[in-house]
Amino acid sequence: MAKLWGGRFQKETDRIVDDFHSSISFDCRLYRYDIIGSMAHAKMLAKVGIISRPEAEAIVSGLTGIMDDIEAGRVEFSVAAEDIHMNVEQLLIERIGEVGKKLHTARSRNDQVALDVRMYLRDELDGLGQLLAGLIGELLDIAEKHLATVMPGYTHLQRAQPITLAHHLLAYCQMFSRDIERLKDCRRRVNVLPLGAGALAGTTFPLDREFVARELDFAGVTENSLDAVSDRDFAVEFAAAGSLIMVHLSRFCEEIILWSSAEFDFIELDDAYSTGSSMMPQKKNPDVAELIRGKSGRVFGDLTALLTMLKGLPLAYNKDMQEDKEALFDAVDTVKQCLKIFRPLVATMRVKKDNMARAARGGFTNATDLADYLVQKGVPFREAHEIVGRSVAYCLEQHKSLDELSLEELHSFSSAIEADVYEAIGVAHCVAARRVTGGPAPEAVQQVIQTARQRLAKY
Ligand code: ARG
Repeated sequence: MAKLWGGRFQKETDRIVDDFHSSISFDCRLYRYDIIGSMAHAKMLAKVGIISRPEAEAIVSGLTGIMDDIEAGRVEFSVAAEDIHMNVEQLLIERIGEVGKKLHTARSRNDQVALDVRMYLRDELDGLGQLLAGLIGELLDIAEKHLATVMPGYTHLQRAQPITLAHHLLAYCQMFSRDIERLKDCRRRVNVLPLGAGALAGTTFPLDREFVARELDFAGVTENSLDAVSDRDFAVEFAAAGSLIMVHLSRFCEEIILWSSAEFDFIELDDAYSTGSSMMPQKKNPDVAELIRGKSGRVFGDLTALLTMLKGLPLAYNKDMQEDKEALFDAVDTVKQCLKIFRPLVATMRVKKDNMARAARGGFTNATDLADYLVQKGVPFREAHEIVGRSVAYCLEQHKSLDELSLEELHSFSSAIEADVYEAIGVAHCVAARRVTGGPAPEAVQQVIQTARQRLAKY
């Protein structure tokens, strides 16, 4: 079939050029948005009198038929027709004849593709927000069961101070809540109608852009035609927000991998979410968590690809911009797939509470509490720090923990220490005493869970 833009050419494009610049293999996934956008455009053309009402109706019904056929798998797209926009237009002309040729009045593929991508991303942002909200809900449920499950908190991957599993999980809830906020914020900038910008300089036709915006549920229309066709900031913003989601998932996965090792032995992953080794019969590997960690790199790559694609482009549209799609689609697909599998991965893991508690009791995680105890008895903190440091050195020699020292032994380090010290440095007490807002004490955490649930209901 002749090209829709073939008028000024003497020759056909070389096959190799068709193959090279065609995007139909990946932008075909935009077909719904392309068709719905075209329907709104046709209705608007009729509304302002550029085409007649019967013509608009013929176009809309032709497009409906194309949508049905694509959905039923009855359409074979053409590489020579380049992209989804021209494939649909060509099909329309084949089906309804001359009237179909009027659809593209006052429109360019440049504003059309910007529209399609924005509509696509808007839907995906909503879906991803739902997935994140579901994950947060799951984590809150698990946390609620582990308000008193004591475990060591780490710095430098060295045992530091006792916390609870609930507190640890809630740290991730905070990250995922910020991720939802970022997606919502990104959506505000996605949700602006670019159609009407034409190729770059708007159009001489008296379009009713606000009507199209209402038809397609956009909050407003773009204010500069050059920007409307060359802006892909929203795709970059999503890739950045998606990268952060992946960073959060990846850090969590790293912990799941560590925790399920024999060295930590804090959790066991469900068989349904683990895999074996082809050679070593005993192995049970946390492959799912590793693969999420691994896939984070893809999304960072997509972000870099988008930034690099844009940085040298003069205004307005340049064909380089066709490269936005594979990066954006890959970022969306990867984040979606990872969020979907991560939720059941954590929901089904078995928590080994006793091992967590044992680890919390070792490693002198209560040393700060002993120092704080001394401060309460009137010892200046810096001095208390020194006293406890010497006690720890002694314990290491004696292969004991601080609470295993006798009162006489403790006395030899400071006369301020009395019998009430043992309660003060018991790990459960160390956690319970951290009642400060944002701290790990069960009541404090319970409070945060409640706030988080309220916030979740509003997403
Ligand atoms: N397939 C193109 C893209 O994805 C559509 C816009 C083409 N516009 C043009 N002037 N060649 O960017």
